[in-house]
Amino acid sequence: MPHSHLHSLGSQMFQSRFVLIFSLLLSLPLLFLLAPRILTPRQGPIPLPDELDDLALFNRAVAINLRSPSNLKSTFFRLGSTNPKLKIAFMFLINTDLYFAPLWERFFNNGSKDLYNIYIHADPSLNVNDPGGVFKDRFIPSKHTERSSPTLISAARRLLATAILDDSLNFYFALISQSCIPIHSFAYVYQLLFNTRNSSWGAIKYRSFIEILSNESILYDRYNARGKNVMMPEVPFSEFRVGSQFFVLTKKHALLVLKDRKLWRKFRLPCIRVQSCYPEEHYFPTLLSMEDLKGCTGFTLTRVNWTDSVNGHPHTYRPPEVSPQLIYKLRQSNFSNDHLFARKFSPDCLSLLMDMADGVIFKD
Ligand SMILES: *[C@@H]1O[C@H](CO)[C@@H](O)[C@H](O)[C@H]1NC(C)=O
Ligand SMILES: *[C@@H]1O[C@H](CO)[C@@H](O)[C@H](O)[C@H]1NC(C)=O
Ligand SMILES: *[C@@H]1O[C@H](CO)[C@@H](O)[C@H](O)[C@H]1NC(C)=O
Ligand SMILES: *[C@@H]1O[C@H](CO)[C@@H](O)[C@H](O)[C@H]1NC(C)=O
Ligand SMILES: *[C@@H]1O[C@H](CO)[C@@H](O)[C@H](O)[C@H]1NC(C)=O
Repeated sequence: MPHSHLHSLGSQMFQSRFVLIFSLLLSLPLLFLLAPRILTPRQGPIPLPDELDDLALFNRAVAINLRSPSNLKSTFFRLGSTNPKLKIAFMFLINTDLYFAPLWERFFNNGSKDLYNIYIHADPSLNVNDPGGVFKDRFIPSKHTERSSPTLISAARRLLATAILDDSLNFYFALISQSCIPIHSFAYVYQLLFNTRNSSWGAIKYRSFIEILSNESILYDRYNARGKNVMMPEVPFSEFRVGSQFFVLTKKHALLVLKDRKLWRKFRLPCIRVQSCYPEEHYFPTLLSMEDLKGCTGFTLTRVNWTDSVNGHPHTYRPPEVSPQLIYKLRQSNFSNDHLFARKFSPDCLSLLMDMADGVIFKD
């Protein structure tokens, strides 16, 4: 009995040792596979050929305005003339089909063709459909984009550069996503952007509508999301800002953004902590607050509801919430004018929004 007991104990020990060694061996290749993901940032750097492509594009957009330095002045001059023809460049940065295209189509049909241009950037790997109508053939040469990565900054800069090169009359540059809707008519939007004069702004007639916040609890984590203090010396923590990525920039600021090399050197670095990075919410507000704070309103025209946000996503409105009262509420703002756009709306809100397009959304 003792013998057989010992025997079975020995075989158990052998078995468990075998299991241990076997599982160790088995996990080695697994470890090999996972190690790069655990030990290094999951985001790769932006590929060099993409960076060089972009740089050439941005340089062209800046150069075309350097060669005719009167460009900006003459645009101002034209504005003062009896036939103002300055345009708004609507820049759609999307990674799904533009499911609110019919609503936007109605928005644009309210504005005459010579008051706006449309540009669409869509990750080429996603096979986004051309919505047709006013959007037909408005896709610009685009590259891969990824959430919470500097690729979203690159995409926005690509839109700015393409719009500047395309039409020298583009004066305001509005960034829009597929989950954004208009909440005022085109006529109202145009009027607000071009007729906002504020005597307390002094010599500055036109400012960029971009949110610039400095006193947010998230800021320190966001600052160090690429590694502790890697933003130094270009961006001291005291200069680091946050704001909605949905801005309306003046041409002056669009060019300023395209000229920047200094801050981009840091903001293009891959995020190590992806869940607290969101470079596109920091690059533009930080750069503009460092370079020309007075030229910015400090607030965004795009309303968003951060109550009960999930995983970095704001509240998404669904059909049961959609009503005229919601539109009126979303227009309200704490600043000198109404919001012009709102997000996020789920695609199945489209028919309800279309039903109240003429009676509510575009009635102002
Ligand atoms: C656009 O909307 C405004 C305000 O609702 C209206 O006065 C104007 O006639 C419309 N223009 C066009 C071209 O539909
Ligand atoms: C920042 O916010 C905190 C609390 O929200 C407040 O006590 C503090 O005065 C604010 N600081 C500035 C500079 O606004
Ligand atoms: C914001 O979203 C919350 C739900 O997350 C909702 O209760 C609230 O009514 C929304 N606010 C507005 C102004 O729509
Ligand atoms: C306006 O500011 C108040 C106080 O900070 C805030 O509770 C409210 O949500 C703000 N309203 C809008 C429309 O942003
Ligand atoms: C004018 O600008 C000041 C300072 O930015 C602001 O407080 C005020 O609300 C603005 N007024 C209008 C009518 O835009």
